[in-house]
Amino acid sequence: MLSRRLKMCCAAIGSDMVQDQETTKTARRYDRISRFYDWMEILPECFYGPWRKQAWVGIDGKKILEIGVGTGKNLTYHPQAASVTGIDLSERMLSRAREMAQAMSNPARLLQMDAQELQFGADAFDAAVGTFVFCSVPDPITGLQEVKRVVKPGGRVVLLEHVRSSNLILGKLMDWLDPFVVRMMGPHINRDPIANVKNSGLLIEDIRGLDNIGIFKLVQARVPEEREGEGAMKHG
Ligand SMILES: C[S@@+](CC[C@H](N)C(=O)[O-])C[C@H]1O[C@@H](n2cnc3c(N)ncnc32)[C@H](O)[C@@H]1O
Repeated sequence: MLSRRLKMCCAAIGSDMVQDQETTKTARRYDRISRFYDWMEILPECFYGPWRKQAWVGIDGKKILEIGVGTGKNLTYHPQAASVTGIDLSERMLSRAREMAQAMSNPARLLQMDAQELQFGADAFDAAVGTFVFCSVPDPITGLQEVKRVVKPGGRVVLLEHVRSSNLILGKLMDWLDPFVVRMMGPHINRDPIANVKNSGLLIEDIRGLDNIGIFKLVQARVPEEREGEGAMKHG
């Protein structure tokens, strides 16, 4: 019995260590590509720009969280009446975002932080937005659960994500390319973010396909009105 518990304990510590290592690697990768990131994205941004705008439509409330703010490509869409806090794992991506914010006189608070371990209290935000972020977060479900914790019950969570293609050949190609893309650039290209959102306990309200090849999705989700355990307490 004791040895089984010990084994389980060691396995848990081992998996935490692996995740910490992955998080450090992710931060390093984005630090490394921060100088080229905006250049690499010039062409895709022709599509991403209008999708980003859609992601921010209807985001209201006083306090908004942007997860994985990167080099600040969404700063231009931040609602002016809100106080926006942007977080990112990579200090170098953030420093680009800070320069951009300064140039635009955008007062967003930009903080280095791990989405898997947000340093905010529960219900600190009215809504949250993340664009192309949970493809890179080592444990996306933990990250999404953290978002669920810091956004108020009923608050909106909007995500722009890419998914593994359901096309047999394209899907396999994405599986094959995934390790190279991760090592070179950071994001996983064969994840199932929709399943991750569901598994985090967020409620999906809408999934909009944005392209003709079924890869880019705009996901509208909401934090459940009742926190886990609250219903049981209220209803005895
Ligand atoms: C593909 S970039 C997207 C940046 C930006 N949202 C955009 O749309 O251009 C992914 C970003 O997620 C950040 N990121 C990855 N893992 C993270 C984590 N665990 N916590 C916070 N940010 C993370 C990376 O540092 C990077 O800036």
